[in-house]
Amino acid sequence: MKKITVTLLVLLAAASLVVGCKKSGGAFIGIAMPETHVLRWVKDGNSLKAEAEKRGYRADVQWGNADQVEQNKQIQTFLTNGAKALIVGCINDGVGSVIAEAGKDNVAVIAYDRIIPNSADYDYFITFNNFKVGVLQAESIAAGLDLASASASAPKYITLFAGSATDGNAFFFFDGAMSVLNPYIDKGVLKVVGPYPKTSADRDNFQRIATENWQAPIAKTRMENLLNNDARNVTLDAILAPNDTLARAIIEACKADAKYRGNLPVVSGQDAEFDSAMSIKSGEQYSTVFKDTAKLAEAAILLADQVLKSETVNIPGAVLASGDLAKIGDTGRKVVKTYLLDPILVTKDNLDVPIDAEFYDRTQKVLLKS
Ligand code: BGC
Repeated sequence: MKKITVTLLVLLAAASLVVGCKKSGGAFIGIAMPETHVLRWVKDGNSLKAEAEKRGYRADVQWGNADQVEQNKQIQTFLTNGAKALIVGCINDGVGSVIAEAGKDNVAVIAYDRIIPNSADYDYFITFNNFKVGVLQAESIAAGLDLASASASAPKYITLFAGSATDGNAFFFFDGAMSVLNPYIDKGVLKVVGPYPKTSADRDNFQRIATENWQAPIAKTRMENLLNNDARNVTLDAILAPNDTLARAIIEACKADAKYRGNLPVVSGQDAEFDSAMSIKSGEQYSTVFKDTAKLAEAAILLADQVLKSETVNIPGAVLASGDLAKIGDTGRKVVKTYLLDPILVTKDNLDVPIDAEFYDRTQKVLLKS
């Protein structure tokens, strides 16, 4: 009798362990982020993991160090460990082979912020309206230079930078920006110093202004070269910088040139990084584009959850890209369902927007408000 009771108790304990396990650990989600040298991705990865766990999933996050071979190994490990979904911010199209493998195993793949190019092996992409990001960058430059009242007899001078040509977003940022700047250039009130791709379709010139893997030292060196060569005999009024990391590197190069000390060009940005917000506050960087990545992470995990449960996808706060914007979801081999969140322009006048959205930590908030 005693033996039976003990056996029963052991069985009950084992059963409750199993139930306990089920409760605390749902399916496994692998989160692959591209890099840490652009700070947003650190936050993106951590937010995604926290959101996944909040919904009862097990999750792991890895950062790829801007090296696709390294990221592929990380994704491979996720698959070996039984991932049911992958959230991927890729580095370049070399990711295709592991995504194909995931597709074969029926793993739900969600391209996160960046498209997974040249692949037909996944169905979903969640990002911001990246064309609009570029439009906002250029609109801030047009406002900062008052291009609407500029004349061809006293034109303004701009130089152009783009992000990494391995990142599909870089093309949309640039084309959005040029859709605003080209009319001023055509009128002769704005002149481009250095290479001028009218759109990203001019691949040769686009390559000349692109910044491989969004590396700040590359942008800084290119700016130094411009200052010593093409821009030697003019004073630049503006610089189209595709994100904050590069904007600050470009500003650093300008500050080392006596001509620009105390007289910096209008420089755009993106990501609302703390250091750039401080720079905007102090009047150096002119603008940034705020993309609420906490919201993107929340939306991506909701999307994964709905896909894994075979529910109808419905993402509050995001629009399904259609019409012209559907291009954002074109991998080159298929058009994936693409959900877009809205970016917001930030200048000195509305720095409160990212602050009030709790985008910064407490210490940063105090510094920004002081
Ligand atoms: C992202 C930007 C980021 C850049 C460099 C892009 O794909 O959309 O937010 O600044 O990559 O990491």
